Amino acid sequence: MTGPRYTDLVTGLPASVPFVGPETQERARGRPFRARLGANESLFGPSPRAIAAMQDAAREAWKYGDAQNHDLRVALAEDLGVAPENVMVGEGIDGLLGYLVRMLVAPGDAVVTSAGAYPTFNYHVEGYGGVLHKVPFAGDHEDPDALIAKARAVGAKLVYLSNPDNPMASWHPAERVQAMIDSVPDGTLMILDEAYIEFAPAGTAPPIAADDPRVIRFRTFSKAHGLAGARVGYAIAAAPLIAAFDKVRNHFGMCRISQAGALASLSDRAWLAEVRARVSAARDRIAEIARGNGLTPLPSATNFVTVDCGADGDFARRVLAELAARDVFVRMPGVAPLDRCIRISAGPGDQLDVLAEELPRALEAARG
Ligand SMILES: Cc1ncc(COP(=O)(O)O)c(C=O)c1O
Repeated sequence: MTGPRYTDLVTGLPASVPFVGPETQERARGRPFRARLGANESLFGPSPRAIAAMQDAAREAWKYGDAQNHDLRVALAEDLGVAPENVMVGEGIDGLLGYLVRMLVAPGDAVVTSAGAYPTFNYHVEGYGGVLHKVPFAGDHEDPDALIAKARAVGAKLVYLSNPDNPMASWHPAERVQAMIDSVPDGTLMILDEAYIEFAPAGTAPPIAADDPRVIRFRTFSKAHGLAGARVGYAIAAAPLIAAFDKVRNHFGMCRISQAGALASLSDRAWLAEVRARVSAARDRIAEIARGNGLTPLPSATNFVTVDCGADGDFARRVLAELAARDVFVRMPGVAPLDRCIRISAGPGDQLDVLAEELPRALEAARG
């Protein structure tokens, strides 16, 4: 018996996943978390209109979803002021990143990102044999100049920027992002991940020039729209690049119920405004709880607050573990010096009450 004959690439990959989900942790702990504040989901939930649309669509779940995502694509294009040919819908930004990397990265190809930036992208790059080159954050911000310089130096096929950023919640104004797009080297494609853009101040997203071949933008229904479990993301880019997704994507990958929910959510502007207001209030409360415990909240343009615990990564890891021991799920950045922080998602009052109650105890235990 030889067993399955894995490719050399797969044999060489570490047996790791980028995230251990809260459910996995709950099974291991044998009890649920009381506060689920670690995955940057929207604890305020989906729009009531989206819920109703998904309930209706559930009856039709015997049908495959529309393989072209036609209605959602047309609605998104209209909303964004681009053509439907500039929009691709897929299984969350995560799924679309996988397709993009598959199209562009062959074993040995160079890809540039920031050390400590969104890890799922790296997971895809390594899965296709790409070679990651990382530049450090500068002052808790991703560093556009360093990213471009590195992309030029290594002849990168892709360079990744998340704006606003996860895990630091920092952001650059549109002019800085546009300047980065304008300096993308020939032969490099810039990925602009705007998963949190709905929470950012006006003037954070550069205008969309959908036919610009130097950049592909990604957005999602997982954050402000509260549909993380429905898995709906979209890419905006030049028509030839969007068309190329059809060569590799899972054409029936989108759930019919998710398509209906996203479409209904897109038209519910009032819900989006409400979520933004609640997230803003929750960010203020998290900042207040952090300060009340002698910690420093960093400015946030996202639905989470990154909190500087004032020491090194070992200390922040202890705080995280002590919070988990007290049934509070939060996460933290993976590399120094970002890992002096923990990252707390915005949530309703009762969830933040649990945080307010347990953080002082967790800190005391971590210090002790
Ligand atoms: C920067 C960034 N990009 C993408 C995603 C994933 O988005 P999706 O749920 O659409 O796959 C996340 C989720 O946390 C994120 O933080």
